[in-house]
Amino acid sequence: MNETESLILATNALKSIARSEQAKQFIKNDEELYPLLFRAAQRFIAGEHREDAISDALTLLSKGYSVSLECIGENIRDEQQCIEEKDEFIELIRLAGNNGLDATVSLDLSHIGMMIDEDLAYNHLVDLSREAALHGMTLMIGAEESAKTDQIHALYKRISESYPNVGITLQAYLNRTERDLEQIKQYPGRIRLVKGAYQEPSEIALPRSEQLRAKYVQLAERLMATDLPVSFATHDEDLIEAIRHCGYLDRPNVELEMLYGVRPDLLKKMKCEGYRAKAYITYGKEWHLYFFHRLAEYPPNMFRAIADIVTPSIKVETY
Ligand code: FDA
Repeated sequence: MNETESLILATNALKSIARSEQAKQFIKNDEELYPLLFRAAQRFIAGEHREDAISDALTLLSKGYSVSLECIGENIRDEQQCIEEKDEFIELIRLAGNNGLDATVSLDLSHIGMMIDEDLAYNHLVDLSREAALHGMTLMIGAEESAKTDQIHALYKRISESYPNVGITLQAYLNRTERDLEQIKQYPGRIRLVKGAYQEPSEIALPRSEQLRAKYVQLAERLMATDLPVSFATHDEDLIEAIRHCGYLDRPNVELEMLYGVRPDLLKKMKCEGYRAKAYITYGKEWHLYFFHRLAEYPPNMFRAIADIVTPSIKVETY
């Protein structure tokens, strides 16, 4: 097996582990494995509790970054659990607000009811949008698998009629996104542009490639023709250089956003050069899902994880 083949094998295995309920239960129930993996996961997550996220957020804000906050979770099919997850987001918004945090709160709609019933998700979205508005915060809706995109966009359009403080994430890798953008840009919310994180068939999405970078820049250009607030969310240095070169990062309505723990050096450099830099901080008991995704999208992180188990990173200090 050559290097590329082994990387593909590792990536697919890590993605399967991330989604496996059996793997999750195994990790949770193993008293020795759980703390070891949790040590490594802390490179990418603030901790298991909202207070951990707020604490790291306050440190980053004091260093001149802005922050997004998310309690990790998706695809919840139990109504009571969806209510509890919605309540957790409400508490997160309140805690951030009471700490004077000017933060964005991000979530996936499948985390708060979309897998059960569209109206349940909508009602939860109303509660959260209202609470966020009370504290002057933005609520960002995440992008999920393409099978959910129509439903997510419909909910976004519905909520936007009453709450302009809600924004949405668009995935550059989907062929449909150019068309979607034409509609989404009619609404007032922030648009976050990402490459896309899910395994999608080649008929509907581009793989990581030069072509995808070019598509991202094209979409960025279209976004720049609007006055909407925009987040370019990527760690791709060449892509960032391309949009910086076009002058897009100089616009007052634009920010550069990266996942907490991923390329802190690059986000710090951009902040020091005067660009608006935002870190996306996650927390929660479902950290294993998020952690294995971070390993899967960049398998060299596996070596880091091994090192972190021995000597845990103190990531907030790397910013
Ligand atoms: P790409 O994957 O090509 O990576 C470019 C380079 O970045 C790599 O070569 C490596 O140097 C570095 N890098 C990337 N990932 C790394 C990692 N885990 N560890 C270390 N280095 C890494 N997706 C989605 O489908 N729906 C969503 O709602 C969101 N939301 C979201 C919010 C924010 C703030 C960010 C930054 C990203 C998302 N994503 C997302 C994820 C996004 O779609 C994408 O999968 C990741 O950002 C990785 O893609 P890049 O653009 O970084 O490029």
